[in-house]
Amino acid sequence: MPTILREDFCGTFSLCCEWTKLNSKFVAHGVDLDDEPIAYGLEHYAPELSKSQRDRLTIHQNNVLNPGLPKADIICAMNFSHYIFKDRATLKSYFANCLATLNSGGILIADAFGGSRCGEANEESTKHKGFTYYWDQESFDPITNYAQYYIHFKLEGEKKREKVFSYDWRMWSLPELREIMEEAGFKKTQVYWEGSTKAGTGNGIFRPSEKGEECEAWIAYVIGEK
Ligand SMILES: C[S@@+](CC[C@H](N)C(=O)[O-])C[C@H]1O[C@@H](n2cnc3c(N)ncnc32)[C@H](O)[C@@H]1O
Repeated sequence: MPTILREDFCGTFSLCCEWTKLNSKFVAHGVDLDDEPIAYGLEHYAPELSKSQRDRLTIHQNNVLNPGLPKADIICAMNFSHYIFKDRATLKSYFANCLATLNSGGILIADAFGGSRCGEANEESTKHKGFTYYWDQESFDPITNYAQYYIHFKLEGEKKREKVFSYDWRMWSLPELREIMEEAGFKKTQVYWEGSTKAGTGNGIFRPSEKGEECEAWIAYVIGEK
């Protein structure tokens, strides 16, 4: 049974926290460069853990490209964070670093998104209780696949807070992610693709698939097996 999770690009390390809650033997390591989200997680999320859960959680302020990261059975790169690596050589060295620090039989889970709407400028807003969330696709360059995205927020009764989060990314495709993982030495890769409801929207259930379908916007998971 896998017991050690490493959450790369962990930010406020919420996945790590959830992992420690699943089983009293589960250990979690979070890795992030930036002390600001780490400090937020330490102030707001870590105190919600029991002593046993907190004792099994370690946060490392470090670059995911560095050698010597903690070994793990599962490494997660979530929220498309690896899209920050804009050239193949750097993304490959990241995947190779994951492979080197995975225990035998371990897996890397990296999420991905795309679809025709990601290749155009647009802004969509979603209303939540007390605030509105904006996903702003400012630009996409089809020659480089570089994209600039922002998240804005507007709290009820306040001015819109622009560019609270900024994402300067390369839009990697699913076959590229698989190929680069395989070039880095993963013995097998697999895409988990989301199923559809009768209305044609995503149903939240992701299964191993070799064939997807055209969508305006999709999210998927790419798994690399050591
Ligand atoms: C898109 S955020 C995702 C945060 C978190 N995974 C989540 O879902 O909330 C990307 C995170 O990656 C971190 N980051 C960027 N480059 C990094 C690197 N080379 N090594 C470690 N962390 C990095 C940033 O500091 C930021 O917290």
